[in-house]
Amino acid sequence: MEISGKTKVCGIIGDPVDHSLSPVMHNAAFTELKLDFIYVAFPVKREELQVAMTGIRCLKVHGLNVTMPHKIAVITHLDDTDPTALFIGAVNTILNKQGRLVGFNTDGMGAIRALKKNGIDLKRKKVLLLGAGGAAKAIACSLIKEVNELTILNRTPAKAKQLAQYLIRAGNNKISGTILSAETFQCALQDTDLLINATSVGMHPDTNQNLIDLRSLRSDLCVMDLVYNPVETKLVRAARSKGAKVVSGIEMLIYQGAASFEIWTNTSAPIDIMKQAVLRKLSESGAI
Ligand code: ATR
Repeated sequence: MEISGKTKVCGIIGDPVDHSLSPVMHNAAFTELKLDFIYVAFPVKREELQVAMTGIRCLKVHGLNVTMPHKIAVITHLDDTDPTALFIGAVNTILNKQGRLVGFNTDGMGAIRALKKNGIDLKRKKVLLLGAGGAAKAIACSLIKEVNELTILNRTPAKAKQLAQYLIRAGNNKISGTILSAETFQCALQDTDLLINATSVGMHPDTNQNLIDLRSLRSDLCVMDLVYNPVETKLVRAARSKGAKVVSGIEMLIYQGAASFEIWTNTSAPIDIMKQAVLRKLSESGAI
């Protein structure tokens, strides 16, 4: 692609961003569809957010992804935020709409699409969600429109209860939230169809850290792990070895990226191209 005076700039802000997979993923998609867009990584420290956002406006950056540590703080720098992203309390995507910065959170739709595209039917299913942080909230808000029953377990029980109560107030039944312990996990797992790890446990560098008794996984379960570094987490490996259907964090990364891409370009994302680019990059870096 030739970069011209009209090329639209998208990017990611965060600290660190030098290992982000988003630039290769989005640039591969722009190239594939011959869109006059480019995607770059902007390293922005916590204390630089305000000036960075002024710069984004002045430089007419078209679209942004937002990662740690800015996902929460960035909301106060936007002109408008999607109501679900406001509830989640975190924005991972920004669209510059003729000078107005609008925030979204694509984690929930990314997870649902990743599950469905991997052949997991959500209708009438019972889901056990581990975690009640930003990613878990995003997923719970999207999942609840599809599934029959949702149990949320979290190390800090107040957060699980608060999330469950919000979803119940929004008109959903069959939701509970409580502490994550060996007992609550075993009890909830018994009639679970889909288990989702939305905690950061298992993430590099603590890849041996374990949240649950992996021996209790079963072949009739579907298991999704949002952790994508490493690609094969301990949970994913154990689930696979039990014969369970598995959706890895890479799938979720790609589909949340695809949702951002579609917000910026108004064009269907070329999923396979994005996936190939990410897997190539991971393979080059020795992660797979
Ligand atoms: P994200 O935006 O990725 O969801 P987050 O909002 O910080 O990140 O949430 C991290 C989640 O992982 C939380 O549910 C957290 O549990 P707490 O709410 O109790 O903090 C969970 N988590 C992180 N480390 C954990 C650990 N060692 N054991 C159990 N849960 C853990």
